[in-house]
Amino acid sequence: MGDLDNITDCKYDFDSITDRKGTGSLKHDCAAERGKPEGLIPLWVADMDFQVPPEVIAALKKTAVHGIFGYTEPYPEYFGVLCDWFKRRSGFVPEREWHIQTPGIVFALAECVKAFTKEGDAVIIQQPVYYPFSEVVVDNDRRLVNSALVVRGAQYTADFDDFEKQIVENEVKLFLLCSPHNPVGRVWTKDELIRMGEICLKHNVIIAADEIHANFVFSGHTHHNFLTLDKRFHAITVLCTSPGKTFNIAGLQLSDIFIPDPALKEKFLREHRRSGYSQLNTFAHSGALAAYKYGGNWLDALLKYLEANRDFIQRYIEQNIHGIDFFLPEGTYLAWLDFRKLNLTYKEQKELIINKAGLWLDSGLIFGHGGAGFERLNFACPRVLLEQALEQLKNAVDHIKK
Ligand SMILES: Cc1ncc(COP(=O)(O)O)c(C=O)c1O
Repeated sequence: MGDLDNITDCKYDFDSITDRKGTGSLKHDCAAERGKPEGLIPLWVADMDFQVPPEVIAALKKTAVHGIFGYTEPYPEYFGVLCDWFKRRSGFVPEREWHIQTPGIVFALAECVKAFTKEGDAVIIQQPVYYPFSEVVVDNDRRLVNSALVVRGAQYTADFDDFEKQIVENEVKLFLLCSPHNPVGRVWTKDELIRMGEICLKHNVIIAADEIHANFVFSGHTHHNFLTLDKRFHAITVLCTSPGKTFNIAGLQLSDIFIPDPALKEKFLREHRRSGYSQLNTFAHSGALAAYKYGGNWLDALLKYLEANRDFIQRYIEQNIHGIDFFLPEGTYLAWLDFRKLNLTYKEQKELIINKAGLWLDSGLIFGHGGAGFERLNFACPRVLLEQALEQLKNAVDHIKK
């Protein structure tokens, strides 16, 4: 990796459009399979239309050129590099014994469901939320319990009384926490997280904290790594982290899971062994190492770009699109757009987005309770594309008002 030290501190280019067609991209190539017409602007699934840090590209090229892709373990320096990243970025100091790797966070959440609950047990989530949260529960024949988020003022928050009530009434065993929250864009405050943690501690609920969006936090907000909040939470927490979103390497499939409690870790590992999964992808190891080691400056530049994209959406909607409300995301690169004032049926809203506006967004309905009348828009794309998308949306909305 040493030779990657010399890649110069270039100005990162987030403005250029990189053609992703023909790369097998889920976002760009799979319209027909997903029942969508060709030619929509795809702003749905959560990956970014930006090239990854140059050092990651160089590391992957080096791996490719080596030409042998046998079973691969993490590079010896990986854990140290990962620790440095967490220490610098969130004050989290992980211990080596806590660390396990999986090929993805959803994979790890499913393992938590299987490891810590049995068929029929209740698992709680906070909808609207990233839809695999409900899928991993239902697909494993567990009981889905929802404590819906509520809107207070201009933002969503948890209804803590309801959260506790649902836990008690349903004898909940596991909580899948999305922090920061996809799709509503909340970066939970320390107080909010501690309240959730205290309730779980009181009722022996294990917490799988999905922090995949931890590095996407905008000015004025701070992400709190769940394991930094209170040592007592170590006994009940499975922390799920990943470079996949942060550095746009979801396709490399690597996530880092931290479980401080030895008994919990052993249960998780038993499930991991049962799944038959062992080593990760060779490219995942070199890509993730380069990302965490060299990707900090790239990420800082990216965050400025994303925040400007977010602010652009806010201004554009305020000034040009009447009838759509915007929940200003505190983090993530996902905008949760509220179409309810337009009073459209599901079919009419779909028609508006796809056929009139020419956009491919994620319908709010897939995020469960509270999602009807919303759309999720992924703004991790060059500004010019975002401008075009919003203009198309404005024209479509103007058209229905006539
Ligand atoms: C909250 C959340 N968790 C997990 C994932 C997916 O993670 P992975 O690809 O590592 O399974 C996403 C992707 O959008 C997400 O938003």
